[in-house]
Amino acid sequence: MNKTILITGASKGIGLAIAKLFWSKNWNVALCSRNVENLKSEFISTNNQTAFIESVDVRNKTVLQQFGKAALQQFGSIDVLVNNAGQFIPGMVHEEADGTLETLIETNLYSAYYLSREIVANMKQKKRGSIYNICSVASLMAYPNGGSYSISKFAMLGFSKALREEMKNYNVKVTALLPGATLTDSWSGTDLPESRFMKASDIAQTIWDIEQLSPSTVVEEILLRPVLGDI
Ligand SMILES: NC(=O)c1ccc[n+]([C@@H]2O[C@H](COP(=O)([O-])OP(=O)(O)OC[C@H]3O[C@@H](n4cnc5c(N)ncnc54)[C@H](OP(=O)(O)O)[C@@H]3O)[C@@H](O)[C@H]2O)c1
Repeated sequence: MNKTILITGASKGIGLAIAKLFWSKNWNVALCSRNVENLKSEFISTNNQTAFIESVDVRNKTVLQQFGKAALQQFGSIDVLVNNAGQFIPGMVHEEADGTLETLIETNLYSAYYLSREIVANMKQKKRGSIYNICSVASLMAYPNGGSYSISKFAMLGFSKALREEMKNYNVKVTALLPGATLTDSWSGTDLPESRFMKASDIAQTIWDIEQLSPSTVVEEILLRPVLGDI
């Protein structure tokens, strides 16, 4: 039977790259983001592979929880959950617009918290499954114009560490993935050359490779940077 991966923020960038790779390996996919038109035309269910796709604003807790429940109902279990949906708003804590922290914490942290709580009960019961939390180099160090984004990504790493400790006894793997600059729409408008960035497909490949490890090993944290260093 096919395995199933659930990915938030799958319409583009890193989430889309992960979805494409796992789909090409015959996994079922449960995908969400606010825009899903491209996903619906790219991932089409067949007799032996299923794509479950819903438009979800991850800031809407009820809708997000309903999506998690519906995905579990569709597939019976989720083998891999990727908490990827995220937003970057540049700014400085002392200057950014009021509400920036709320937006970024809701999008980048609460979405992962509430969806993981929805999915993990089934993983605990089955004593298997992996959760990947897409953190950032901004989870480790603050930088100019990082503002509330950096706060949300520090929190995401904290969330991942807490869940990892809790899941030890249930045989559920939890991985914090910390990418540096990766060329996606979140860098649109940059005048830096493509060679300065990592590719979204490399992040997807990393998750795929980790999934090939034996059941007795978990990668707790993995830090990936452009070969020329941070931007
Ligand atoms: N690119 C980098 O350099 C980099 C570095 C470190 C970490 N990251 C992290 O990697 C993750 C993916 O980023 P990316 O670079 O691939 O960005 P991206 O190309 O802008 O894609 C972001 C994805 O998240 C979805 N999303 C954003 N807000 C959402 C919301 N409220 N509800 C549902 N979906 C939402 C977007 O879909 P819709 O717009 O259709 O909703 C899109 O699919 C993020 O968590 C980001 O912080 C990125």
